[in-house]
Amino acid sequence: MNLAVSVVCPICSAPLSRSGRSYTCLERHNFDLSREGYLSLLHGRNNYQEIGDDKLMVQARVRVHKLSAFADLAAAIRGYCPPMTAGCAILDIGCGDGFFLDQVTNAAKAACLGVGVDVSKGALAKAAKSHPSLLFIRTDAAHSRLPFGDSAFGMVMSVFAPRPIGEIGRVLRDDGSWLIVTATQDHLKEIRQFLPLAAIGTGKLDTPTSGFFSVQRSGVWVSELEVARPDLVSLVEMSPSVYRLRRDFGDKWIDRLPESLRVTFSFSITRLVKENR
Ligand SMILES: C[S@@+](CC[C@H](N)C(=O)[O-])C[C@H]1O[C@@H](n2cnc3c(N)ncnc32)[C@H](O)[C@@H]1O
Repeated sequence: MNLAVSVVCPICSAPLSRSGRSYTCLERHNFDLSREGYLSLLHGRNNYQEIGDDKLMVQARVRVHKLSAFADLAAAIRGYCPPMTAGCAILDIGCGDGFFLDQVTNAAKAACLGVGVDVSKGALAKAAKSHPSLLFIRTDAAHSRLPFGDSAFGMVMSVFAPRPIGEIGRVLRDDGSWLIVTATQDHLKEIRQFLPLAAIGTGKLDTPTSGFFSVQRSGVWVSELEVARPDLVSLVEMSPSVYRLRRDFGDKWIDRLPESLRVTFSFSITRLVKENR
């Protein structure tokens, strides 16, 4: 793995350099690659905590990404990406299993380095094993400084994932783009007739410009697909709603789903650029 992006120490912010399976800074803070190949920059007590998506959610997400609607969504997201220059780095915040990062990085006409960050060990283990040409890092993107130098990235993506606007502004080049993908309130509306899924908060639909970013392009992508019961189950199991369903109905929640259902997939895709660039 060739580090074409500046990764910095989460303790002292000095650049990290790699030797074998270790990354070390001048202050001798040391971080090792996991068995699966991702770099954990969580340290102290945080390193041992199970946070973010759990293993069952990750497995469900991997199954869902095999549905044709998600290949089509990835193609739609690629249509929103700006042209990339060779050597450009792309950051995916809350990258999960790395599906969208892989789809975007490998479709770029110029050779780019894809970097995914997530806080979930299960997601990163799957991502690193499935996409060895990409770099995956464990960090808490919502509560700590992103472990990268200023202006390290030409594009940042937040796909159903955290949007730490200040840090994104710092690590994104002035001419870079930020892609946000969120579900709209129509998403999976047919499944909601059978199960009390958590509502999609309207706050998630707001575009967080905060005076730093402006919207360059925005649209809603909608698709319908006939989905068989095992995939309906996976669509529910990859969301936190499954915890409440299990608590309220045990495993019986699955019986509420029909054998097959025509389902709406509806997502908003927005490309932002920096103000005053
Ligand atoms: C809804 S999933 C989306 C995953 C991926 N972007 C996709 O669409 O397949 C949200 C992801 O954000 C991660 N996440 C949640 N909070 C996070 C945080 N504070 N820092 C980094 N990742 C986080 C979760 O572990 C999970 O993998």
